[in-house]
Amino acid sequence: MNLSFAIITCSDTRDIASDEAGGALASLADEAGWTVVEHVVVHDERARIASEIMHAVDELAADIVITCGGTGLSPRDVTPEATRDACERDVPGIAEALRAYSMTKTRRAMLSRGVCMQRGKSLVVNFPGSTKAARENWEAIADQFEHAVRMATGEGH
Ligand code: MTE
Repeated sequence: MNLSFAIITCSDTRDIASDEAGGALASLADEAGWTVVEHVVVHDERARIASEIMHAVDELAADIVITCGGTGLSPRDVTPEATRDACERDVPGIAEALRAYSMTKTRRAMLSRGVCMQRGKSLVVNFPGSTKAARENWEAIADQFEHAVRMATGEGH
């Protein structure tokens, strides 16, 4: 099944060339035979992030939007709030699975406030921003992406 991905890195300091975590996620999607329709870096601005999520879903028709970074406790970390602004429905099981798996890697996983939600038929998932964390979060849920998209688009089991 072909899936399309948008990768939105949320960072005040990175640009597309230095975005190692976003680049790693793009490679992982590519290696799985899926398509990356967008890879961008946006500053940690709530409205900008929300508008980039809406663009990825509404204009680019991404099945899955992965945001990377901005999930922590610092005042500039606003990715979960922006995701809530852009999405309708909570998908708590995926966020729970990410933290449960991540806690087997580092206890600091509890510091990520990342959420997973739906906008229309698309899934929006918040990953933490380090390359290590991005890879581990991918590892935690990538095997469920195809089934999740089938369910979200109403195909059934
Ligand atoms: N999850 C995994 N799997 N691996 C990690 O190394 N780092 C944690 C956490 N989640 C980490 C992880 C750390 S140190 C922080 S501060 C939070 O994610 C938030 O990261 P962010 O602010 O880059 O989103």
